[in-house]
Amino acid sequence: MTRPTPRDSLALAKGYHSPQVDVKVRLNTNEAPEAPPERFVDALAAAVKDIAWNRYPDRAASALRSKIAESEQHLVGGLIDMNNVLVANGSNEVLQSVCLTYGGPGRSVLTIEPTYQLHSHIARITGTDVIQVERNDDFTIDLDAVLRTVEQDRPSVIFVCSPNNPTGLIEDEHTIVALLDAAESVGALLVVDEAYGQFARWSSLSLVSEERSILVSRTFSKTWSLAGLRLGYAIGPTWVIDAISAVVLPYHLDAIKQRAGELALDDAEAMAARVATLVEERGRIMAEFAKMPLEYWPSESNFVLFRPTDIDGDAVWHELVERSVMVRNCSGWDRLDGCLRVTVGTPEENGEFLTQLRDVLGGDGQLWDA
Ligand SMILES: Cc1ncc(COP(=O)(O)O)c(C=O)c1O
Repeated sequence: MTRPTPRDSLALAKGYHSPQVDVKVRLNTNEAPEAPPERFVDALAAAVKDIAWNRYPDRAASALRSKIAESEQHLVGGLIDMNNVLVANGSNEVLQSVCLTYGGPGRSVLTIEPTYQLHSHIARITGTDVIQVERNDDFTIDLDAVLRTVEQDRPSVIFVCSPNNPTGLIEDEHTIVALLDAAESVGALLVVDEAYGQFARWSSLSLVSEERSILVSRTFSKTWSLAGLRLGYAIGPTWVIDAISAVVLPYHLDAIKQRAGELALDDAEAMAARVATLVEERGRIMAEFAKMPLEYWPSESNFVLFRPTDIDGDAVWHELVERSVMVRNCSGWDRLDGCLRVTVGTPEENGEFLTQLRDVLGGDGQLWDA
């Protein structure tokens, strides 16, 4: 027997998945540090009783999409409604659906590296070619290089992650508009991955309109404390949402998920308060980083990328795990030699992380306290 073999393109970039180790302080996967509010959990438990389990769920997920449109309206220039909203099983499924709709054999997506590795991975899974443009040394976008490549290779989709994972850097409006103009000049769709958008000072949602080829994807995994729910969404012109909706599987969003998403949106105030705390804590981490022997990148997200200057990043990562603190080890990733990425946790978790890191980097802290 000859065993069937999967396509070569299906091998995930080596070393991407984070180890799931049992540690006291887990700051490695950019999750929210707290569980969702108790009110949400109780309301969801009650709602589960009312679900008509023998029936398929609302295929259009109308109530959820309407509620998402309402909740994001303040960030969008023109009026939006449910027809501007695509919902999916995590924003990863949004990205996959984009590739299935606009990518495929004979087509390409453009990614701006280093960035979220799933952009290129998902594209390859869907049989789409990947064109990678490198960022500048400081991880800002080399706009000239991107514009040249777009003109030359004419991709069908341009992915840009803002704030970018793993650097935490945000793109300004000028850059996003330049990318959008370039996309439109070759008939491409610009997809702005805003998985961390709520932590940032501005959103590309302000550029969404019927006239522009832009789709902004967001998630309930970070700000809404619902990584376990697997719920993401995207906002864009109706003609993009219609095209993608024709590709997703029928009834792909189950009944509980739809209800859970609706109920979560009732907690907007509580979530905004949590985001504010995380942003404050992010500031505290960066302020402490400024006193340590390391370089870091100013983050607009719920994580901070840093590179110890005197000790190898990989060694620091192992030392931290020994001390029951886990951050993301990016030290072996392309362009990220020696880098680690820490998710902003609770004030207590961040305190413990900073204490242990200080200790690992220089013992008593004399190195940088001067
Ligand atoms: C940039 C980026 N996009 C998308 C995702 C996927 O999020 P979701 O949990 O909504 O699939 C992540 C998850 O970490 C991410 O970092």
